[in-house]
Amino acid sequence: MKRKLTIKDVDLKGKHVLMRVDFNVPLNKETGEVTDDTRIKAALPTIKYAIDQGGKVILMSHLGRPKGVKDPKYSLKPVAKRLEELLGHHVSFVDDCIGEGPRKVVEAMKDGEIMLLENVRFHKEEKNNDPEFAKSLASLGDIHVNDAFGTAHRAHASNVGVAKHLTSVAGFLMEKEILMLGKAVEKPEHPYVVILGGAKVSDKIGVITNLLEKADRILIGGAMMFTFLRALGKKVGDSLVEEDKIELAKNILKTAREKGVEFILPVDTIIAQTIEAGVEKKVVSIDEGIPSGWKGLDIGPRTIELFKEKLNDAKTVVWNGPMGVFEIDDFATGTEEIAKALASLKGADTIIGGGDSAAAINKFNLANKVSHVSTGGGASLEMLEGKVLPGIASIAEEDIKKKRRLTIAGNWKMNKTPTEAKLFAGVLAAEIGLEDSLDIVVCPPSIDIPAVADVLKDTKIGVGAQNIYPKESGAFTGEISVTMLKDLGVKYVIVGHSERRHIFGESDELINEKNKFALKENLIPIFCIGETLEEREAGRTFEVLRSQIIKGLKDISANEIMRMIIAYEPVWAIGTGKVATPEQADKAMGYVRKLLGELYSMEIADQLKILYGGSIKPDNFDSLIKMENIDGGLVGGASLKESFIELVRIAKNYL
Ligand code: 13P
Repeated sequence: MKRKLTIKDVDLKGKHVLMRVDFNVPLNKETGEVTDDTRIKAALPTIKYAIDQGGKVILMSHLGRPKGVKDPKYSLKPVAKRLEELLGHHVSFVDDCIGEGPRKVVEAMKDGEIMLLENVRFHKEEKNNDPEFAKSLASLGDIHVNDAFGTAHRAHASNVGVAKHLTSVAGFLMEKEILMLGKAVEKPEHPYVVILGGAKVSDKIGVITNLLEKADRILIGGAMMFTFLRALGKKVGDSLVEEDKIELAKNILKTAREKGVEFILPVDTIIAQTIEAGVEKKVVSIDEGIPSGWKGLDIGPRTIELFKEKLNDAKTVVWNGPMGVFEIDDFATGTEEIAKALASLKGADTIIGGGDSAAAINKFNLANKVSHVSTGGGASLEMLEGKVLPGIASIAEEDIKKKRRLTIAGNWKMNKTPTEAKLFAGVLAAEIGLEDSLDIVVCPPSIDIPAVADVLKDTKIGVGAQNIYPKESGAFTGEISVTMLKDLGVKYVIVGHSERRHIFGESDELINEKNKFALKENLIPIFCIGETLEEREAGRTFEVLRSQIIKGLKDISANEIMRMIIAYEPVWAIGTGKVATPEQADKAMGYVRKLLGELYSMEIADQLKILYGGSIKPDNFDSLIKMENIDGGLVGGASLKESFIELVRIAKNYL
């Protein structure tokens, strides 16, 4: 995933900061007071930051399910009061979220002030993501900050719709949620243990299916365990079982076995006849079975020990769903013991999914002992299912490509006499010689270099060679040294061009020597790679690129690679008029970037310039240069004429 822009990436001073928070908190039915302010507290760092930066903060949220009409039961007014207490800062409240009322208050706001709009769900247009409604909301702000992770699985107007009109950036809470859950989804450290609980298997099918691909162990507690135990033919008495999910449970158990995932079910359970405090309860082993008239309401002591043992060496733990009916103390032990086990784990990322498990960890006062307690129940579940959440997708991403300078390099190959070269260099100097917004390079035949370098010496156009020999000097008839080139002011050199590989039989090893030698002598290698038609048709493109990269970059350090340019030139597209489609080129170049990320780091790979080469012409360059992984072109035929100037203009237009 590309880095999402955060509130720290934007200037807030004097701006109307339209901030979507998740203040969907429980209220006391009689007094209307906030009974759990966890979500309000979780949004405080972002709100404080925005006012400290001199922003005018306009908060919006939903609360409950008011069905699209104004219902005082779901008013955010008590939340404004609680927020004011927590912040120690005045919070004004406006009794609607669109229209004249909010507009007037917003216009009168001063820097550092905060206001909370009334429940956005008092308008049915919020949940419908109505474009006009979203536009009205957006008109209140200059920038949109999305800190409502709890709503990220919904495409509503106040989180997703407004992002069509305003740049949407993540708040600190959203940033942390994406970071922590994203890590568990994309690259968890192993052993990766997942604890799932809660009442229903049906709520967790998506998560289980996705986790069977990633987790090493899945521990099952909560009432959902009984559906699995029934699938194994155990006696579960009157416990909650989803009859229509027994087949599914069997399939999950089978898949886990096939995939080598340890799927661990409880070995004992706490049973009672009714779900009430103070009733008679017993521990029974699962093998013995639950008598009829009794139901399992928590995991038993042996299961707690077993689960603790399975957590011991974990490096990543995700917990979603309580182990029993933890709201009643008699059936809370399993949940409490698992919470404690997680809190005491050392050196592991411990992530608590939102909803009930978050409520549980708060009940036992252990929230600050785990790495992350998600504020989103549904949202964290969907993220663990591997889904793209609309409320995250709508947050703007950093345009990494814009950070790489474009390069247009001309490879003149064996064309132009020194006289012709000098003349053409004069044309380039006059037309694009002072162009500074991108890098322009020409690589003439070596015999033309003195004349070309002389004409271009006071311009911004760099001169490159088409080849070097990786020795300082000596008995190497017909070859040219780096010292000679540097004497003429040459800065670049093409290495590993496919014509040198295929016509002159250059090996990956020699190419590697040339890359290293050029770097040692401070020339910038333009290192070429690319597959032949035969290799592409045999489906070997990635394999060939991988081998060329690994061999060509052997023993080249991270510092050195940063001084190189890579050029992807599919051999079948060179000089044939058969240009790769933008998608084909971008796919291969994306692969190369990912591979460089693995060899060095993604941070380095994101900064490396990768050029495309092969039948580039002014009429196809526009669609190529737009692609995410294409940072310019290495141009043959079209670099010999005025079309080169045209290519530079096309690239410049793209900037
Ligand atoms: P063409 O642009 O003539 O296809 O050549 C590409 C190339 O090989 C540049 O190095």
